Amino acid sequence: MIGGTGVTGALIAPSILTADFGNLAQQVRDAEAGGIDLWHLDVMDGHFVPPISFGKEVVAAVRDASDGRFIEAHMMVARPSEQFADLADAGAQRLIFHYEAAGSLEASREHIRMCRDLQCQAGIAINPETPVEAIAPLLGELDEVTVMLIRPGWGGQAMRPDLLEKVSDLAARVRAEGITLAIEVDGGVKAHNARSCVDAGATILVAGSAVFNPQETPQEAVAGLRSALGSD
Ligand code: DX5
Ligand code: ZN
Repeated sequence: MIGGTGVTGALIAPSILTADFGNLAQQVRDAEAGGIDLWHLDVMDGHFVPPISFGKEVVAAVRDASDGRFIEAHMMVARPSEQFADLADAGAQRLIFHYEAAGSLEASREHIRMCRDLQCQAGIAINPETPVEAIAPLLGELDEVTVMLIRPGWGGQAMRPDLLEKVSDLAARVRAEGITLAIEVDGGVKAHNARSCVDAGATILVAGSAVFNPQETPQEAVAGLRSALGSD
């Protein structure tokens, strides 16, 4: 599984929220030339979070520009299951829904089953106020968990380092249960704090404004992240 525990080195998953959408295909190719591992595409519906970002059309555009890298959809939407099929059809190979949107363990299990029926991996994201405890009974059924290190909805926010404790908590549970699970951190990951995320137990780092920013090319930005991780 991509980004599962036990891999050496963390994977880098760019979010295109702050990319130049007028040149999206080139931005995708530039980031891939820099050596990114997978795409983290942030779908927002204006309900679960205030902004609207994009849906299946942009996911398909990234897939078409990509050389075939893995795509996950981070669904900040109020009714995720209604979009599962469209996003899978557009190229998403992992569907990450919010526990807060599903609303219960039972509903989450139904969402996971729907992801599997579409031959997709299943991931759950948890907001800053949701404890890891809330999703603990599901860990053995999931491929991935996204720990939000910011309030979801906007790129370019500063990470809340206190939330890395949730990552350590999650990593300890995964170790104790002997399961394989990708542990992703999302929000404010930069070269200066990437190492602390991995030390806490993250296996996938989402990086939006760290990769797509006006100061450097995506290739340079990815190289900076890799070197901060000591894996270049
Ligand atoms: C926020 C999204 C994130 C975020 C990443 O709601 O889920 O993926 O935009 O962007 P940065 O790295 O700029 O926080
Ligand atoms: Zn995200």
